[in-house]
Amino acid sequence: MSSNPITVTGHQFLARSHYGFRLPIRDTPDPNAPPIKVVGLQKYFGELHVLKGIDLTVERGEVVCVIGPSGSGKSTLLRSINLLEQPTKGKIYVEGIDLTNPDVNLDLVRTRVGMVFQQFNLFPHFSVLRNVAIAQEKVLHRQRSAAEQVARQMLERVGLSDKLSVHPSQLSGGQQQRVAIARSLAMNPDMMLFDEPTSALDPELVGEVLAVMRDLATDGMTMMVVTHEMGFAREVGTRLIFMDEGLVLEEGIPRDVLANPQHPRTQSFLSKVL
Ligand SMILES: Nc1ncnc2c1ncn2[C@@H]1O[C@H](COP(=O)(O)OP(=O)(O)OP(=O)(O)O)[C@@H](O)[C@H]1O
Ligand SMILES: [Mg+2]
Repeated sequence: MSSNPITVTGHQFLARSHYGFRLPIRDTPDPNAPPIKVVGLQKYFGELHVLKGIDLTVERGEVVCVIGPSGSGKSTLLRSINLLEQPTKGKIYVEGIDLTNPDVNLDLVRTRVGMVFQQFNLFPHFSVLRNVAIAQEKVLHRQRSAAEQVARQMLERVGLSDKLSVHPSQLSGGQQQRVAIARSLAMNPDMMLFDEPTSALDPELVGEVLAVMRDLATDGMTMMVVTHEMGFAREVGTRLIFMDEGLVLEEGIPRDVLANPQHPRTQSFLSKVL
């Protein structure tokens, strides 16, 4: 028996010596680990207890849709998985990498986990092509020509090959969001998190963004999607999660949860949005 306490949780192995130095063993992705594993996640903002113990595993190729009332913690959950928020308590593993390990490689995790927000956050003074290329150059250190080649491929994938040289202000909201998706895909992520990607769009532009997301799902991308689009959740989601007040209250096959919610809070929420 070693005198060092060794904790083994999932694929994370961390040994602490009596002298206090850490021996992190897993800091590279484990292809056999689930893309996302959340264990007992809690988050406080000051006194505000926003996530109260979330347990969630997302398997490869799953499309997990997350619904719930405003303030229930949906964005905080997604932001935690992309390390935009630090968990107060609990663990998050991305492909076996423990995100709460202080030595975690932020850039590595953020390139594996793409994130698309309600706001597109494109650079207004750059062309569409440069918008998709620039992060690759800065974070992945790709040469400009290689980055732009990938950018062209990704912009073709989202149906924007004819907009490479225009600026974001010359695009519709739906087109801008597709640029943001292309930008994220260009980093070659293993999974994508979407936080209400269509909520800022005019209704007639929602469909073109959902179509791109549907294609991604069909191609096998692992996805977590916070959305109010119940049709998308029903048809594309492999699982639907209902969150309320920092907890997952119900989850299941989207069709079942939507047609036959079990928890009174889910029933009440769905009766207002469906
Ligand atoms: N940086 C922050 N500082 C303080 N409080 C925050 C912060 N971010 C979020 N909160 C609070 O945490 C709670 C959960 O917020 P969150 O954005 O996760 O909810 P949500 O479910 O995504 O809501 P919505 O549907 O409105 O987007 C809210 O009460 C919010 O005000
Ligand atoms: Mg939110």
